Amino acid sequence: MQNIVVLTGAGISAESGIKTFRDSDGLWEGHDIMEVASPIGWERNQEKVLDFYNIRRKQLLQVHPNAAHIALVELEKKFNVNIITQNIDDLHERAGSSKVTHLHGELLKVRSTFDEDLIMDWRKDLNSGDFCEHHYQLRPHVVWFGEAVPMFPKAVDLIEKADIVLIVGTSMQVYPAAALLDYVEFNIPIYFIDPNPAPLSRSSTYVISQKATKGIADLVNKLMKESV
Ligand code: APR
Repeated sequence: MQNIVVLTGAGISAESGIKTFRDSDGLWEGHDIMEVASPIGWERNQEKVLDFYNIRRKQLLQVHPNAAHIALVELEKKFNVNIITQNIDDLHERAGSSKVTHLHGELLKVRSTFDEDLIMDWRKDLNSGDFCEHHYQLRPHVVWFGEAVPMFPKAVDLIEKADIVLIVGTSMQVYPAAALLDYVEFNIPIYFIDPNPAPLSRSSTYVISQKATKGIADLVNKLMKESV
C-alpha cells in the first residue's frame, strides 16, 4: 500500500463552522496571540486564557466533521493514510480517520502544569482551581507560541516515508509545521488544496485553488481511480 500523508490546517474545518486564524475575520484578528496562546499570557492572566479555550471547546462540541474530513477517511480503503493536523479540534477523529497526529495539541484534553505527561480528556469548562492529582493547576493541552512541538519528530518520520502528500487549508506560516515539506522526498507529488494558496517553494506541487470540501472530494476520486 502506498503511504499518503495529509497535512491539514484550519481551512479544512472552516466549512464545519470553525474560524481560521489568519483569514479576514479570523480568530487572530480579534485576539492578541501573546495574550491567549503563549506561556507569558498564561502567567499574566490565566482566566483570560482559560476563557478563550472554554469558548473554543464549547463551540467545537456543537459542530460536525464536513465532507472534506469524511472524504479523507475513504482514502484508507486503498492507502495507508496518516493525517498530520495543526488543528486542535477532533473532527478528523470524529469523521473516522484512524491515524491522526496533532502537532499543536488537542482542545478536548488538558494537562497538569506539574507533569506534562499527565494528560486527561476534558469536555467541560476548565477553570482556575481545577487541579491534577498533585494539586497543580490544569492547563489546555495545546502547544502555545514559543513552546516546543513534541509531535514534530513523529511528523517528520511520517512525511519522510510519504509516497503522496496532500496539504489542505493552511497558510503555511507557522513553524515548524511549514518546515515539514523540507522532509518530503524529491519528486513525491504534493497536492495543495486551498482557495487562497500560499506560494510553496517546491517542484512537483499541484495547486488546487478550491475549498476543502470540493477540492478533496475531486482529488480523492482521482487517487482512488488511479490506485490499482
Ligand atoms: N477550505 C480550504 N482552505 C480554506 C478554507 C476552506 N473552506 N477556508 C480558508 N482556507 C484556508 C485559507 O486560505 C488559509 O490559507 O485556510 C488557511 C488558514 O490559514 P491559518 O488561519 O493561518 O491557519 P493554519 O495555517 O492552520 O494556522 C497554523 O497557526 O495560530 C496557529 O496554532 C494555530 O494551528 C494554527 C497555526
